Amino acid sequence: MSAPPRQKRLTPADIASLKGKRPIVSLTAYTTPIARLLDPHCDLLLVGDSLGMVLYGLDSTVSVTMDMMIAHGQAVLRGVNRATVIVDLPFGSYQESKEQAFRNAARIMKETGCDGIKLEGGEEMAETVAFLTARGVPVLGHVGLMPQMVNTSGGYRSKGHSEAEAAKIHRDAAAIGEAGAFAIVIEGTVEPVARSISQALACPTIGIGASPACDGQILVSDDMLGLFNEFKPRFVKHYAELAGVISKAAEDYAQEVTQRQFPAAEHTFQPRGKR
Ligand code: KIV
Repeated sequence: MSAPPRQKRLTPADIASLKGKRPIVSLTAYTTPIARLLDPHCDLLLVGDSLGMVLYGLDSTVSVTMDMMIAHGQAVLRGVNRATVIVDLPFGSYQESKEQAFRNAARIMKETGCDGIKLEGGEEMAETVAFLTARGVPVLGHVGLMPQMVNTSGGYRSKGHSEAEAAKIHRDAAAIGEAGAFAIVIEGTVEPVARSISQALACPTIGIGASPACDGQILVSDDMLGLFNEFKPRFVKHYAELAGVISKAAEDYAQEVTQRQFPAAEHTFQPRGKR
């Protein structure tokens, strides 16, 4: 007997073809159960290197490793039937040379089964993007605020406020688009710049803190689920308040355990025939 046909996931080419038709819906995912919940509603799920900060409590994404990305990429792929899945190349895995980028992109695609990779960078990465796309690796670009550059770019401030900075982001996006990226994430960038890039480029832009002018939107799922109470960036909207729900559940559990209310009879095994 043959296995039932596996539902086909959207491809990076499908994502590219959404430009001008309808906004692209994307979120990050790092685990199987969350991927299962997000998948029916998303066109693209990104296994972002933001997992270093979100799941591992790191200060930045700089120390995220290939092994971390592969483990979480595999977990997400187990939960996805519909969305295209893109995995971030972590810092240090692609900047050295286009050959290094291909080696690591191919490893991630082989070991996770994902549909493509994302890398950060503009003009300086265009040759690498062209090298990868010519060799079968779909690339999602990432310009504007680039978290992997936090140590040289002066932190997590929004970009494109000066004419020079706006022109640079424009050149970066154009170079990555011309090199063959199927779409480009624009992060933390003022609206007029995101708008003019989105109008100028043939490939779609996916914004995070880059205004509704982009061709799609992405958020870190833990941010939009309200899992962090301490700090909410301006560009994040909470669609749920899970931090409060989880704290309350833990508080109720602790109280019931200390008062011997949990486990109750219905949670307790008794010898057969004595129930
Ligand atoms: O790592 C990540 O989650 C990202 C998104 C914020 C776009 O790059």
